[in-house]
Amino acid sequence: MSRLGWALVRPPGDSFAQALSEHPERDTIDPERARAQHGAYREALMRLGLEVTTLPPDEELPDSCFVQDLAIVLNGRALLCRPGAPSRQPEVSVFEPDLRRVVPSTDRVRAPATIEGGDVIRVDDRFIAGRSDRTNDEGIAALERFAAPDARVVRAEVREPFLHLLSGLGVAGDAVVGSEALIDQAAFDGLDRVAAPEEEAAGCNFVTVGDDVLMAAGYGKVRSLVEAAGFRVHEVDLSEFTKADGGPTCLSLLV
Ligand code: GLY
Repeated sequence: MSRLGWALVRPPGDSFAQALSEHPERDTIDPERARAQHGAYREALMRLGLEVTTLPPDEELPDSCFVQDLAIVLNGRALLCRPGAPSRQPEVSVFEPDLRRVVPSTDRVRAPATIEGGDVIRVDDRFIAGRSDRTNDEGIAALERFAAPDARVVRAEVREPFLHLLSGLGVAGDAVVGSEALIDQAAFDGLDRVAAPEEEAAGCNFVTVGDDVLMAAGYGKVRSLVEAAGFRVHEVDLSEFTKADGGPTCLSLLV
């Protein structure tokens, strides 16, 4: 394993054109273009120093490239999530053996709890977990049991129009950059809140690795805010994933 960690990723199959999405351009998703963009994304993760493990596409599961939603990892243990979207629940069992090769110790969220990794962000010894259409109170309680005693969980609300907490914010060092609708909550106390323009909120779904940030291309104002916070920014075109309501963090599980 490299110094900076591991990333598990799964490229999209042709069925990615049927991914869940509320995006106005969802009917124009091009799976082949998405696979090329996913290749560039993987290369960018490798350049940031991550060991990247690429799993095979799964045609049965259109959203299965969004592996971040499937597990939450803490200190060599993993909590297998139970997605709130029923069509995504089978993704977890498919992913479990691959995850266990990297993180052998796993626990599982059970019904009626639902939680998706896109609603959870870790800041030092704190998980911030957003209640959303995909993550319910029981799911957050399951995360609390899993995290104790290594980390605590604070609750936030995922507000319209965001699918997940990470759909509209990102953390880089001590800064949380995002939509005011999300970051203006007590859960983010202690972080420097940096409000992003609402029209670029989706650009705040970025991956931070050390002093580097990997962003989707096309969000110049967010890029400037992240650079002003002291981070090197790298961009990759992820237009096809944006159309499927996804972004850079959704596409990898970082271990
Ligand atoms: N298309 C990503 C999701 O709905 O979970």
